[in-house]
Amino acid sequence: MPKSRVVVLPGDGIGPEVAREARLVLEQLCPEVQLEEQLLGGAAIRATGEPLPQATVDACLAATAVLKGPVGDPEFDAADVRPEQGLLGLRAALDTYANLRPAVLGDVDVLIVRELVGGLYFGASGTREDGTVFDTCEYTPRQVERIVRRGFELARGRRRKLTSVDKANVLETSRLWRRIVDETAPRYPDVEYEHMLVDNAAMQLATTPQQFDVLVTENMFGDILSDLAAAVTGGLGLAPSASLSDGGAGLFEPVHGSAPDLAGRGIANPTAILRSTALLLEHGLGLPEQADALRTAIDAAIAAKPTPDLGGTATTDELGTAVREQLTVDGARVPSYGG
Ligand code: NAD
Ligand code: IPM
Ligand code: MN
Repeated sequence: MPKSRVVVLPGDGIGPEVAREARLVLEQLCPEVQLEEQLLGGAAIRATGEPLPQATVDACLAATAVLKGPVGDPEFDAADVRPEQGLLGLRAALDTYANLRPAVLGDVDVLIVRELVGGLYFGASGTREDGTVFDTCEYTPRQVERIVRRGFELARGRRRKLTSVDKANVLETSRLWRRIVDETAPRYPDVEYEHMLVDNAAMQLATTPQQFDVLVTENMFGDILSDLAAAVTGGLGLAPSASLSDGGAGLFEPVHGSAPDLAGRGIANPTAILRSTALLLEHGLGLPEQADALRTAIDAAIAAKPTPDLGGTATTDELGTAVREQLTVDGARVPSYGG
């Protein structure tokens, strides 16, 4: 079998600090996997003038899976070329339309399934002569069908409850969305489903998140609701995600951003990217045992060495080291390679 190749995109701000911990874990857990770093976002703009260099696209398209740190830097806030454009371009190039954002804590176990390559972030935008500025939200039926099917499939493998979130009382795209959910549902008679308006969904997530199993929603609603779901399950420092296509390389990335307020201080919580690495091991490389070992090690390490966002004092490096020290597979310690 050819060797698996993982492209690591460290990104901006706290990105390189937390991606380093993920890389060390991957090297320890699966030394046979080839790792390769590429540029994305602000780091790529500084080096090449572009947020998504062709070399990065080519490497990611040829990879088994991609591990990505957050991108974005206040330095480019007023610029025409922005780091975030690189991320949107990469998601489109890989067609990672299904963004899985799990939020788990205590009796809460929610999976947000966010459409990732359509809607407002990809529609026509611009400025008219009269000074009007516009962004447009567009969805083709096919784009909605494939994400809705994913939502039902994922619910089927869990507690078999799907909540489709929309704004069908106002938006045409939401009415299309709702119709496709209703048309798809008969194929999944074992899954109980409901529709919920997005404003109410935010309130319900904040107050009684236990009621949800799988939420399926369009791009921007999912962006906002996933930060909220992270907030009610321990914070952004813990929240991972997997962005999947149909058969191509998946993109595994924390929900959080580049946290300019923490960048360079060595205190960001690496858990979100480490949990994203567990998702990469499971869904990207087909290594479920290693994924479980990593999850167990992370849980033990954050209990022993919490970072400041969790009320502790551990640094990024201290928590990452604690994770690597805890790593076991089948009860045996995974040997450390290279020190
Ligand atoms: P952010 O997620 O970077 O930060 C929000 C808050 O959460 C801050 O208080 C930050 O300190 C905290 N936080 C985030 N990650 C943390 C971690 N690992 N450990 C501890 N605390 C953490 O959101 P923002 O400030 O709105 O955005 C900053 C930049 O990140 C922007 O340029 C934005 O575009 C970008 N961004 C990128 C991604 C991505 O690449 N997927 C996601 C969100 C935001
Ligand atoms: C996220 C981020 C991105 C998004 C931005 C940086 C483009 O907020 O991954 O949640 O909106 O998808
Ligand atoms: Mn976001």
